[in-house]
Amino acid sequence: MSFKEIEFKVYDGKPEDFSGAVLIALSEESVKADKAAAFRDIISGLAERKDFTGKKGALTRVPLFNNKVKNIYLLGLGKSEEVNAAVVRDKLAQAFRTIGRQHNNSCLLMLDECVEVKGDVLIEAAELASYKFDKYKSQDEENNNKDEKNFALNEIFVLNKLCDKCSAKGKIFAESQIFTRELANEPGCVINPPVLAEIAAEQAKKFNLECEIWDENKLKAEGCGAILAVGSGSATPPRMIHLIYKPKNKARKKIAFVGKGITFDSGGLDIKPSNFMTTMKGDKTGACDVLGILTGAAKLELEDIEVHGFMAAAENMPSGSAFRPDDIIKARNGKTIEIDNTDAEGRLVLADALCLASELKPDAIIDMATLTGACMVALGRWRAGLFAKAKDDALAEAILSAGKRRGEDFWRLPAEDEHIEEELKSPFADMINSGPRYGGATFAAIFLSQFVDKNISWAHLDIAGVDFMDKETGVYAKGASGFAVRTCLDYLVNL
Ligand code: BES
Ligand code: MN
Ligand code: ZN
Repeated sequence: MSFKEIEFKVYDGKPEDFSGAVLIALSEESVKADKAAAFRDIISGLAERKDFTGKKGALTRVPLFNNKVKNIYLLGLGKSEEVNAAVVRDKLAQAFRTIGRQHNNSCLLMLDECVEVKGDVLIEAAELASYKFDKYKSQDEENNNKDEKNFALNEIFVLNKLCDKCSAKGKIFAESQIFTRELANEPGCVINPPVLAEIAAEQAKKFNLECEIWDENKLKAEGCGAILAVGSGSATPPRMIHLIYKPKNKARKKIAFVGKGITFDSGGLDIKPSNFMTTMKGDKTGACDVLGILTGAAKLELEDIEVHGFMAAAENMPSGSAFRPDDIIKARNGKTIEIDNTDAEGRLVLADALCLASELKPDAIIDMATLTGACMVALGRWRAGLFAKAKDDALAEAILSAGKRRGEDFWRLPAEDEHIEEELKSPFADMINSGPRYGGATFAAIFLSQFVDKNISWAHLDIAGVDFMDKETGVYAKGASGFAVRTCLDYLVNL
């Protein structure tokens, strides 16, 4: 896997004696006032510079300063009143990536006085920025460095010691998300449901998690007809994976995470057009998130919170054995579903998983899924949908705040609507699975709610749109983002 564990160390010498690159992050006001006294020793006349105004995200490389400092980089943080953890994490990540690729091994970080972030934010920025999915690229002399230089940054120096606890937390957050990215980036020819189950079992062993895997026979015996239907067209059968983190002390809270694990979504018999099918290896991101969260919970050694994870894994393929439009299937809770679109498969695998999670009577269930194109149309590529009923406002608020702290944006959308609920009706079964075009993301949320125990707090995260990045930006590399892993871990830590 291509990522670096980056060490943060304290530098107590003079900045002008530093032998690597120096990165100076400044707000627009600090540039104008040329007031950052600590930086004057190595660079002055900031206010007069035409090539650097402190604009948010701007990075300027100042050529060789003296024989010791290799490079000085100026990073703009924008207006000081708008500087927050998300901005600092995002812009530092981009800067670390550039500096690392320009063959700098070590970097001294000097932050403007308006920056108030702890070590977790800095570690997240540095480690997430170092990740790239490049294991299938030949690394010979010629191919290597062809388009992008290798990331060389190994150590970052700061002027004040970072808090150990925060740093350890940030490292676990980042590394859990990187694990999820690496898994979600693997193509469908490598990861199918049984392989995903094996990887989950391996991770469970490594981190002392309990793990139970249901194969197709057990799923049949247990009445999980929805996930079985989705997987029926594939040469590789579905799996329901249940992971448990048990704390040392008596559990004060029990939280269940549920993830959509479609290892490839062709659409099934309602096959997708080809330009909608590429990136559908990423349709397993919800389940990969859940595995990242469970291993993260174990690494954090949460004291008194029991965490459950359900990964609902199936491959949605067209074939002679595939489920069809018009089929009527039965989910774990006995409810029947008339299939009107085989491409609305995520809600089906989640239906069985949400029933199983409900049976454990947890304090809260949070599901995550690359569920609807509609959510992506509504919110774009950098913000995920958060669906919760009015009764679950507290859970929704907790997730929104955790997302803010981690720089993962969520936007609350409705999970109840009496008119859309009407559209769920089927003439022949308890409900249909897809429904009309408008309000598709809320329709999906209302569909899911049919399988959640009404007495349990529940939130649904629709991560279609944010699961797979078109291009490198901030903490994200091109490809899988692992979106929601850090938010959910932060939610657990602050519970
Ligand atoms: N996996 C897709 C949703 C998706 C689309 C995720 C784009 C990421 C990017 C999901 O299974 C799907 O196909 N949804 C359909 C539902 C429709 C048939 C009701 C959609 O959104 O078009
Ligand atoms: Mn689909
Ligand atoms: Zn899908």
